[in-house]
Amino acid sequence: MRVIMLLLALQIPLGLDRTTVTSGASLRLFRGRANCTACHVGPNLTDEEFHNTGVFWGQEPYDAGRVVVTGVPEDTGKFKTPTLREIGRTAPYMHDGSIATLEEVVDFYDRGGNENPFRDRDLRPLKLTTNEKTALVVFLRSLTGTVTDGR
Ligand code: HEC
Repeated sequence: MRVIMLLLALQIPLGLDRTTVTSGASLRLFRGRANCTACHVGPNLTDEEFHNTGVFWGQEPYDAGRVVVTGVPEDTGKFKTPTLREIGRTAPYMHDGSIATLEEVVDFYDRGGNENPFRDRDLRPLKLTTNEKTALVVFLRSLTGTVTDGR
């Protein structure tokens, strides 16, 4: 199912700029070793699910996320996966705007998010090289552009 959603994501015009066409390596990283598509998948680059990436951990005021609605302890710190469309234009990032730039977002994921008792299993330190971090930022920036209807 995930694979089908991913194929859909790639075939549907996203309004990608030229960078994407030449940045196969960035896309491979996003889908492969960096594991972003574990959550950012499908036409809108979101699985529409809730995950704990640890953004809330140690923040004041404390926002426990989805657990407040469901009462299920495992939902502590979970927030909905946002779309990555137009991400180059929507800083600051995360539900609380606590991350200022896309470079810092990539650093956040490189350290595996913020460790906490309910952190999602799909997050772990990535040990990305400087070039790989740049490649991921290039990919994220490529998701911003003018959407055309294919004509
Ligand atoms: C385990 C699921 C998961 C994985 C894996 C994941 N993300 Fe996310 N991502 C989320 C969630 C959930 C949020 C929102 C968190 C919040 O607001 O507290 C988010 C937020 C973001 C944002 C900020 C969006 C905004 O509008 O504020 C960016 C950018 C982003 N992720 C990029 C990435 C990249 C790049 C990767 C791979 C290195 C990645 N994500 C891997 C779940 C995930």
